[in-house]
Amino acid sequence: MSLRKVVLDERAIPQVWYNLQADLPPLPPPLHPVTREPLKADDLADLFPPDLIAQEVSRERYIDIPGEIMDLYRAYRPTPLYRALRLEKELQTPAQIYYKYEGVSLAGSHKLNTAIPQVYYNKKAGIKCLTTETGAGQWGSALSIACCFFGLKCRVYMVRVSYNQKPYRRSLMEAYGAQVIASPSQETKTGRKVLAEQPDTPGTLGIAISEAVEEAVQHPDTNYSLGSVLNHVLLHQSIIGQEAKLQMEKLGCYPDLVIGCHGGGSNFGGLVAPFAYDKMQGQKVRLVAVEPSACPTLTKGEYRYDYCDAAGFTPLIKMYTLGYKFTPPGIHAGGLRYHGAAPFISSLLHNGLIEAKAYPQTEVFQSAILFARSEGILPAPESAHAIHAAIQEALIAKEADEKKVILFGLSGHGCFDLTAYDDYLAGRLNNV
Ligand SMILES: Cc1ncc(COP(=O)(O)O)c(C=O)c1O
Repeated sequence: MSLRKVVLDERAIPQVWYNLQADLPPLPPPLHPVTREPLKADDLADLFPPDLIAQEVSRERYIDIPGEIMDLYRAYRPTPLYRALRLEKELQTPAQIYYKYEGVSLAGSHKLNTAIPQVYYNKKAGIKCLTTETGAGQWGSALSIACCFFGLKCRVYMVRVSYNQKPYRRSLMEAYGAQVIASPSQETKTGRKVLAEQPDTPGTLGIAISEAVEEAVQHPDTNYSLGSVLNHVLLHQSIIGQEAKLQMEKLGCYPDLVIGCHGGGSNFGGLVAPFAYDKMQGQKVRLVAVEPSACPTLTKGEYRYDYCDAAGFTPLIKMYTLGYKFTPPGIHAGGLRYHGAAPFISSLLHNGLIEAKAYPQTEVFQSAILFARSEGILPAPESAHAIHAAIQEALIAKEADEKKVILFGLSGHGCFDLTAYDDYLAGRLNNV
């Protein structure tokens, strides 16, 4: 009998985060947005607490996870690793397909893995309120829950197209006590400027980041929190990969291929971190990031310095980018509509350690439905990109009659994305 899932004991939750930065060549330094000089730690003090700034630049290989964070992780970690037996059968592939499911978190995605530590360190620094951006609402939901646990106020700028597509995400954030503002908004100078120039804009993550940053710098008791891209965010997400590797070891197997969807790079970076380490030590493993064709940052972007936001308030970082003014079409995978990529991921891609693929949204939804009907889990549209790539690889293995082992990250569930599924099933989705 083949095992259907590996569920670890609570005591097996890793006690440390793994910092890939310790093993990569030094990343090009972030630059100050005005002087364009290398950034000093102090330049970030208006936005982030000292512990997160320290983690951002740390080259320690392992960083201890504080007890209070471990207590909250225990509410949903370790997350299960499943074998997709019914999907394998449906595809009639000799490949073994495994997925690490982060949708069991309280917020419905991997985003809580970094929301909890970010709020913890902000509270420790005396901060009373956090502002942030959110695309599809997964990150905003995670930060709302974490702020609620630690008693901080939370203000979420939600990209307008997602705000309209996913009204119940807003309800969820409000249920946890957060305030949600459709971005661009009239609340900030940036929002008002964008609306004056483009009243019908669907919004972008870049604009929402600018609004959240603008608000945070104006209030000393308010900091800004980012759900992806930065080194400390990928550090926290390394918990996914560490658990997944342990779970694969329990099964006595090692993946030939690790696949994750890519928005800013946090779930992909967290899942692949320990496998990337192995690869640097000579292990044969392919690491594949998957993005939408409508926002092809890794497959068509340039590797250069760019801003993280649309208004140019944030430091410039060296990354694959489509340009900070890029406005992707309003696809349903709102969390993948980001012009840039994490510096870590950009460096891995530049050095040939990872690959990137892009797919149009109709094909991705077709795979999402196949997955839902065989495995029973309705995936988030973002996560469905990883499913689609895993299915393509399983079909290639079928052609070649190869017993490949595929591991992918199922970063979240799609229970708040039903408008997207309605549109797909009614044939209303643009195949961008
Ligand atoms: C479920 C889910 N997966 C993936 C992503 C993409 O972000 P990242 O690349 O930071 O993991 C998002 C972003 O909102 C998301 O909600």
